Amino acid sequence: MTETPTTAKESIIRLKQADLTLGIDAASVHVLKSIDLDIAAGESAGIVGPSGSGKSTLLMVMAGLERLDSGEIHIAGQPLHAMSEDQAADFRGRNIGIVFQSFHLIPNMTALENVAVPLELANVKDAFGIARRELQAVGLGERLSHYPGQLSGGEQQRVAIARALAPSPSLLIADEPTGNLDGETGRQIADLLFSKQAERGMTLLLVTHDPALASRCTRQIKMRSGRIDDGAA
Ligand SMILES: Nc1ncnc2c1ncn2[C@@H]1O[C@H](COP(=O)(O)OP(=O)(O)OP(=O)(O)O)[C@@H](O)[C@H]1O
Ligand SMILES: [Mg+2]
Repeated sequence: MTETPTTAKESIIRLKQADLTLGIDAASVHVLKSIDLDIAAGESAGIVGPSGSGKSTLLMVMAGLERLDSGEIHIAGQPLHAMSEDQAADFRGRNIGIVFQSFHLIPNMTALENVAVPLELANVKDAFGIARRELQAVGLGERLSHYPGQLSGGEQQRVAIARALAPSPSLLIADEPTGNLDGETGRQIADLLFSKQAERGMTLLLVTHDPALASRCTRQIKMRSGRIDDGAA
């Protein structure tokens, strides 16, 4: 096979023959099967596919939270598959924002602390100032001292988005970001994600079961039984 020529658009995510089996013995599942994928910087991609097809696992690999058994994953040209766990964690902290379906906020920290503390741990200067501005930018300037339990689902997801955006990542990954929200709130969260993506020129990669949300992405990626379904069959 010949080398792919350099294209005008820089690729931010590149997977080559990515392969992963999770679990052991009878419980082992071949989750990712020889995946080749290239996502251009600034693109928005919606990953869709049946439950259990490997979508969340693929995102975890892209975030460096799950390691491949074989194959390669490069993020912004850096070989994530070859990094130690510490290197991957450091790389993730600076380059990748992650949003989950169930928000994953720390219950005994205020909205402001939830956004500021990870910045502080990464030795970012003025962590609380940045956190305040990020929360204001998602419309939560009046909710800084609220705890997650005192916020609605949509508000909690806004805090999670502010936290993901605070380090100014070039890549934002979201696993069913609207999955726990009602239709209207889900649309508002999707609007927020796409407007932030446009404003900051980020790449947005999201997993969704909602065809309307997937269709808002510039590209749809279908997964089926651990493979990218390119519609060829
Ligand atoms: N730690 C594990 N051990 C064994 N099997 C696992 C493990 N984690 C995930 N799996 C299996 O891998 C497959 C893919 O899981 P994954 O969570 O990536 O699917 P998904 O496409 O995100 O599904 P959903 O739409 O339901 O969220 C599933 O069949 C799951 O049971
Ligand atoms: Mg999933």
